[in-house]
Amino acid sequence: MTLHVVSHPLVEDALAALRDRRTPPGEFRALSRRVSLLVVAEATRDLPTAEAGVETPLESARVHRLGGRVVAVPVLRAGLGMLDAFLDLVPSAEVGYYGLERDEVTASAHRYYDKVPGDLGAAATYVLDPMLATGGSAAHAIADLESRGARRIRLLSIVAAPEGLAHLEKVVPATDVYAAALDRQLDDRYYIRPGLGDFGDRLFGT
Ligand code: PRP
Ligand code: URA
Repeated sequence: MTLHVVSHPLVEDALAALRDRRTPPGEFRALSRRVSLLVVAEATRDLPTAEAGVETPLESARVHRLGGRVVAVPVLRAGLGMLDAFLDLVPSAEVGYYGLERDEVTASAHRYYDKVPGDLGAAATYVLDPMLATGGSAAHAIADLESRGARRIRLLSIVAAPEGLAHLEKVVPATDVYAAALDRQLDDRYYIRPGLGDFGDRLFGT
C-alpha cells in the first residue's frame, strides 16, 4: 500500500472550508467537487494513452487520447461527493456502486447494495470514498473488486486516518491511496480527528 498525499495550495484552501463546521451542505458539495478534481487529476496522471491523428482547423496533428478502460466506483453515500469531479475529468469512465454503511457502535461496514461492471482485469479501477477511517468500508469494496478480477485499484479519499491505512496494508496491500490529507487519529467513536465530521451527513444535510 502506498499513500500519496496531494499537496497543493488549492487543496489546502478547499480542505479548510470543508473542515469548518459552519459550511452548509450546498457549499460543502461544491468544495468536495473542487478538492476531488485535484485528487483525481493526481491519481490519473499515469493512465495509458494511445496516439491518434486529428485535423485542426489549420493542419493535421498527432494527439494522445485515453487508451484504456477506466472504472469509477463510489462508495455510497459519501463517495457521490467525488463522482462528479471524476466524470468531469474522465467522462468516458464506467461507474459501479457499493452501498456500505458502518454500524454506529462497532464501525463494522455492512453492504446493502452493489452494482459493478464485469471483466475488470484490464481496467484502471478507482474506488471513491472520501473518509478512510477504520478502513473497513474501503477494504470491503477493494477486496470485492479484487475477487471480481480487478488488478489495478486505487482508492481516492479526501481525509485518511493512520488506522485506516494500516488496515488496508494488512488486508489489501496492493492498493494505492490518494488523499487530500492524512489526519492524526480516530477517536473512540471511530471518527477521524481533527477530520470534518460525518461526510455523508454534511454532503446531504441529514
Ligand atoms: C462513512 C464514509 C465511509 C466510511 C468510512 O460512511 O462515507 O464510507 O464511513 O469509515 P470506515 O473507514 O471506518 O469504514 P457511512 O457508513 O457513515 O455511510 P454514509 O456514507 O451513507 O453516511
Ligand atoms: N466517516 C465519516 O464520514 N467521518 C469520519 O470521521 C469517519 C467515518
